[in-house]
Amino acid sequence: DKGLAVFTSGGDSQGMNAAVRACVRMAIYLGCKVYFIREGYQGMVDGGECIQEASWASVSSIIHRGGTIIGSARCQDFRERAGRLKAANNLIQRGITNLVVIGGDGSLTGANLFRQEWSSLLDELSKNGTITSEQKEKYNVLHIVGLVGSIDNDFCGTDMTIGTDTALHRIIEAIDAISSTAYSHQRTFIMEVMGRHCGYLPVVAGIISEADYVFLPESPPPQDWPDRLILKLEQERKAGQRLNIVIVAEGAMDREGNPITAEDVRKVIDERLKHDARITVLGHVQRGGNPSAFDRILACRMGAEATLALMEATEESVPVVISLDGNQTVRVPLMECVERTQAVAKAMKERRWADAVKLRGRS
Ligand code: F6P
Repeated sequence: DKGLAVFTSGGDSQGMNAAVRACVRMAIYLGCKVYFIREGYQGMVDGGECIQEASWASVSSIIHRGGTIIGSARCQDFRERAGRLKAANNLIQRGITNLVVIGGDGSLTGANLFRQEWSSLLDELSKNGTITSEQKEKYNVLHIVGLVGSIDNDFCGTDMTIGTDTALHRIIEAIDAISSTAYSHQRTFIMEVMGRHCGYLPVVAGIISEADYVFLPESPPPQDWPDRLILKLEQERKAGQRLNIVIVAEGAMDREGNPITAEDVRKVIDERLKHDARITVLGHVQRGGNPSAFDRILACRMGAEATLALMEATEESVPVVISLDGNQTVRVPLMECVERTQAVAKAMKERRWADAVKLRGRS
């Protein structure tokens, strides 16, 4: 008789809807009352219309849609205790003590803090008469399960995050399209791709598009990168290639930690080679469009497993993230993954790139 709610938080990614659908349908199948929380943590704080009971039909025809139909937001209110008190009350009034959070590491960390604080929030709500002592007793434990929705594949503990495969498809479609026009005019194109602090998208895109050079956040080039770049581009042209593709990650930097931008690269090529070099910034196109088959099935498996994990949780269970390990969906302690992810960010900040790559592990 304890309700489950699902919400999406932080940047959207393709496949989130498929995950929402799977959570909802598995919950209904198991006889559980299930809710959507619209607009992420903001909806949890605001309550009202933002928290709605979901039905089997309410998640029909969304598996193929990009973005998140229940909305996402970055929420300042939830960072304050007053906001979290409101959120807790909104959940208690609907009997919700199980949450599936679909988001990146910030969203998952927020959920874990909320869980740790839960009993003190309930104490306060009961003391000031907002909830009854029976409610406090009945809903004394909050269970959470995380799913990682992010195109960046930047979360430790899972081989793939929901949305990464689709983002790669978007990038590859764009590079293929650019390549045909670049070929015709013998041009050089510099493609800026997303991934914030993680080079997964640019490195994989580079391999599968036969790019000539890739600039990554975790593998900064030596200071003489302009010479190396020019040499490589010249070699390729001498070998008969009619075009060059250079990929620059949005977080690319040199070994001093200074950003290397697509414009920096274009200038070097322009000045030294007199190539007709153009920049294409793929931007949020990478985060849009229909999810790939891989992301749909990944999200379905993860969403169903998230509901199962919540239904099996006991008072002693630790919060988990549903991860992909090889081809298996597994439950991994959430804080272990968050701590590793934060250790990667710290290593990157301190310019310990090899450590960052090692810590990140398989993905
Ligand atoms: O984390 C996903 C991501 O798309 C990054 O690759 C990018 O840096 C960032 O989000 C952009 O975020 P915003 O939605 O704030 O533009």
